[in-house]
Amino acid sequence: MRKLIIKGQNLLEGEVNISGAKNSAVALIPAALLSDEKVVLTNVPNISDVDALEEILLYLDAKIDRTNDNKITIYSSEISNKPIHADLAKKLRASYYFMGAMLGKYKHVEMSFPGGCSIGKRPIDLHLKGFKALGAKITGDEENIIIDADKLVGTDIYLDFASVGATINIMLAAVRAKGKTVIKNAAKEPEIPNIAELLNKMGADIKGAGTNVITINGVEHLGSCEHRVLPDRIEAGTYAIIGAACASNLRINNIVPEHIDSLLEKLKEMNVNIKVGKDYLVIKESKKIKATEIITLVYPGFPTDLQQVLASLMTKAKGESTIEETIWENRFLNLYELGKMGAKIDVNGKKASIIGPTKLIGTEVNATDLRAGAGLIVAALIAEGTTTINNADYILRGYENIVEKLCNIGADVILQ
Ligand code: EPZ
Repeated sequence: MRKLIIKGQNLLEGEVNISGAKNSAVALIPAALLSDEKVVLTNVPNISDVDALEEILLYLDAKIDRTNDNKITIYSSEISNKPIHADLAKKLRASYYFMGAMLGKYKHVEMSFPGGCSIGKRPIDLHLKGFKALGAKITGDEENIIIDADKLVGTDIYLDFASVGATINIMLAAVRAKGKTVIKNAAKEPEIPNIAELLNKMGADIKGAGTNVITINGVEHLGSCEHRVLPDRIEAGTYAIIGAACASNLRINNIVPEHIDSLLEKLKEMNVNIKVGKDYLVIKESKKIKATEIITLVYPGFPTDLQQVLASLMTKAKGESTIEETIWENRFLNLYELGKMGAKIDVNGKKASIIGPTKLIGTEVNATDLRAGAGLIVAALIAEGTTTINNADYILRGYENIVEKLCNIGADVILQ
């Protein structure tokens, strides 16, 4: 794995353009397989999770044209429905979207369980419950899963938890099922309407995506379309936090501010000097940052994917900040690394407290997962001296051109 070497304490200034959303792109690409014709996706981030999906598509004999203007054209009329082995499926969590897409199209899928960041147990029981309710039979062992159906028939499915992955996967399986499927207690994250919109452009009949009840009327055929990946709200939030920590004047372009309302409210509460435009933010030097409290929740609550990033800013805030993580069991590993840099931290189960302000000093730390790594970048930018972040490949899974974007605004970052 590569390392990021960051010299801290530069005042950052300039503009950052936010890329397409990782968590939307990783579902849109498998969703394209449901079409019998060409699907063009634009604003696709150039990140290693997308490379891993491209590898799976090529293995399935899809034809792909990926150009360096962030466009991917997928021709999946003649794909082979082969078992997707562990070497491909375990490269990322989102490989599980091939389950819904292949089941929807071929009524049969065989694949290894997915991989992904180690942030908790990450079961897929709700996805499987949805497939079963549509009429699929599930067999397999601890490593591989076989999902098979004579036919898929629409039904009502209540999710015990508003899971993002289960909502999308059930939508993918149901678009070509017979009759009407209703997903109740569906997740409402902005990526979900972005995916429903692609499917509707292909000819599906999905209503209610973005609310907690989604209705899908099955159709027989899905055709060609072009669709744009929405801006990455977690990347936008990450740069907003970087701006709050280190910028003299930073403009963040190509965002949907309401997608990060919960973060923007917290930043304002923390006394961050922030102006919110129609599709941009401007953050100016923020002194006297105040402590705050966050509880991670499903959208539109505070996103779990930003709590590790905000934790680093909390080391600069006066007083005791607290974080309660309610989505994942194991998402505080970054805090031990922050401790190595001098942060005053106490972790107690799903709650953590950070007492600030403390001076952070550069040292060698480990990115234990994608957002932990993003949090360590914030800490390294704040810290005195040089920080080496090991396992930087985790970060490159989800942030397009991060080294270039940071260097363009005056940070001193090298990938080695
Ligand atoms: C998505 O994961 C994102 N990943 C995650 O982003 C994000 O943290 C998460 O949603 C929550 O917002 C992608 O979109 C690829 P969930 P997902 O199903 O879909 C439990 C990042 O950093 N659960 O909403 O896997 C689960 O254990 C990543 O970009 C079940 O119990 O999340 C967790 O506690 C990391 N059974 C909770 O629900 C299931 O079948 C939320 O999971 C499914 C989930």
